[in-house]
Amino acid sequence: MKRSDFFKTVLGTLAFASLPGFKSKSSEDAVALPAWPTANPDDEQFWRVLRAQFPLTDERAYMNTGGLGASPYAVIDAVKAKMDELERVSETGRTDEIWKDVKTAAGQLLGCDAGELAFTRNATEGINIVCNGLPLKSGDEVITTTHEHVGNTVPWLGLLQRTGIVIKLFEPSAQSARENVGRIEKLITGKTRLISIPHATTTTGQVLPIKAISELAKRKNIWLFVDGAQTAGMLSFNLHDLGCDAYATSGHKWMLGPKETGLLYVRKDMLDVLQAKFIGAYSDNGFNLAKGTLALHPTAQRYEFGTVNAPLRVGLGAAIKFIQRIGMENVWRRDQVLSTKLFNGLREIPYVQLLSPESQNERSALITFKHEKLSFQEVQTHLDTYKLRTRGVGEGGVNGLRISTHIYNTPEEVDCVLEAVRTAWKG
Ligand SMILES: Cc1ncc(COP(=O)(O)O)c(C=O)c1O
Repeated sequence: MKRSDFFKTVLGTLAFASLPGFKSKSSEDAVALPAWPTANPDDEQFWRVLRAQFPLTDERAYMNTGGLGASPYAVIDAVKAKMDELERVSETGRTDEIWKDVKTAAGQLLGCDAGELAFTRNATEGINIVCNGLPLKSGDEVITTTHEHVGNTVPWLGLLQRTGIVIKLFEPSAQSARENVGRIEKLITGKTRLISIPHATTTTGQVLPIKAISELAKRKNIWLFVDGAQTAGMLSFNLHDLGCDAYATSGHKWMLGPKETGLLYVRKDMLDVLQAKFIGAYSDNGFNLAKGTLALHPTAQRYEFGTVNAPLRVGLGAAIKFIQRIGMENVWRRDQVLSTKLFNGLREIPYVQLLSPESQNERSALITFKHEKLSFQEVQTHLDTYKLRTRGVGEGGVNGLRISTHIYNTPEEVDCVLEAVRTAWKG
């Protein structure tokens, strides 16, 4: 079947699809949809109608949620409505009720308390707060991987240049995520202060065993920071259970939130350890300039300051509620249905070498592969002709092509990727 036919099939189904509580392509009142208890991961009708909740064009297949996520109408409308409301009166729109409401929903999604969350602009901002706020000094060692995204690389290199911290690297094992616990342990010395690792690597989507690593970190009296840009809104997990000290994520990837949103989690007992360096209005809980006193806000709000874009926070709340209506478990199971179909299909194609883990438990909805006869750029250029938006992975010398599959993607789009990869090598 040709690419255009795949999408015609999807479009045709969408036009007539209806399930209780669903709307076809329309932005009206999408936030008020009722609960969706039927989000069975294999119920194609359900997911096709869900796709119609996104303005995402059917003209191409968007398979780069790892880079940026698409937002549903529910989110876009919530942002627009708040912006319209605020511009009529020219107010900031920041209220404690909105902040509490969104952070409470985020806490439910991520398994932490609302007071342990700070709003950020992106994952990188959260990483910077951690990197610059921990009391690290010259000679202190930080362990990280060779597969970091630039956002979890450059802040640490900046700290290295400014203060002389030492960065120690390990390459994530492609065979077994568990092996990484041993690789980290081997790097630990008396000077190790922090482990800074991704929850899922941006390169191959390998899910690292954070709980086991946090147990190791606790035993050795080391802090654990987790870069969660690739897991919030994709995997179902509980931060308290994972046991890390801090976790930063983007709102604008798998969480489907507005662009320029993020969340930083700082475990309650770390709030006074992780210093708030950029502070101002809202970071405090009272101050007196004449007496030289300042009390920081008792919650992670201490890392927020100044005027921000309240409609974006409202939109993030709408995104979280959208996910919660489907159910985080259902989202993850659907992502797995699509990524497993892709993984298994790629395995059958000659010259394709899969770089993402074999084990389903270690795999996320980011699937990365190489072609033995073609560079990843050549494969990507060929996939472009099928109107497939993918992402090349140069980090860590991986040199592969990464495909993200999220709830708005369809099995037909996965078939389209497989057909495109199959026809990439003409030899
Ligand atoms: C693992 C990882 N960390 C950090 C980032 C940066 O995210 P943001 O642009 O939200 O700062 C990304 C983006 O792709 C990522 O994959």
